[in-house]
Amino acid sequence: MRVGILGSGLMEGKLGTIFARAGHEVVFSYARSVAKLEKLARDAGGKASAGTPAEAARNADALLLAVHWSRVEDVLDQAGDLSGKVIVSCSLPMNAGNTALVVAHNSSGAEDLAKMVRKARVVSAFNTVPSEVLYGVFAARRKAGRPSLVYCGDDRHSKEIAAMLIRDAGFDPVDAGPLRIARYTEPFALLIAQLAYEGKGGPELAYRFERFG
Ligand SMILES: NC(=O)c1ccc[n+]([C@@H]2O[C@H](COP(=O)([O-])OP(=O)(O)OC[C@H]3O[C@@H](n4cnc5c(N)ncnc54)[C@H](OP(=O)(O)O)[C@@H]3O)[C@@H](O)[C@H]2O)c1
Repeated sequence: MRVGILGSGLMEGKLGTIFARAGHEVVFSYARSVAKLEKLARDAGGKASAGTPAEAARNADALLLAVHWSRVEDVLDQAGDLSGKVIVSCSLPMNAGNTALVVAHNSSGAEDLAKMVRKARVVSAFNTVPSEVLYGVFAARRKAGRPSLVYCGDDRHSKEIAAMLIRDAGFDPVDAGPLRIARYTEPFALLIAQLAYEGKGGPELAYRFERFG
């Protein structure tokens, strides 16, 4: 697939690298320096390149969005017309200090994003894991007992694309339902961050859901 990266920071610097190593054509975009994007593309190898958000969006089978909530409008403006595009959003709607969700309870960042880009198809995924686990999970992807990763969205085709990317990154995709479920998964992401960064186990944490009965 051609995967456009919108926001090449802690999350998507790693995710873009993983997708390039899994054989996808990746375009890194949206950082404060072009040199950073070019270095990410060089280090990722494979079919990775650096570009503008509009270039990342052009012909993309999936766009991964991971910027601070305050930068979402700006990156969408720069990406241009996203009609029909699949947007996999890793972003959480956090305040300036990253201490609390600014959208919650009766909506979610993902649902608000879908309203901002009505003609695109939004899936919420990857935002429930700390970026520190991503390389370890990818490295262990051929072993048994993959960690779970919940995702949700309203469009079947875009959810299939997201599930493929989740599998390629080394996780078991867990379909949590329609996009409105993001109002539960986004607070869950904060719980995971709390456990990862404040818990005894140190900064790395990935989880696995088991069914009982
Ligand atoms: N990090 C995690 O573990 C984690 C986990 C779950 C969810 N999330 C969510 O994922 C999203 C991204 O988080 P992150 O940790 O990856 O953030 P980040 O490292 O700050 O990455 C954000 C990206 O946006 C770019 N950017 C910011 N301001 C810009 C500007 N004015 N012009 C151009 N580019 C600009 C940054 O550029 P530079 O590269 O130059 O700084 C960076 O590439 C957030 O919504 C966060 O809540 C993160």
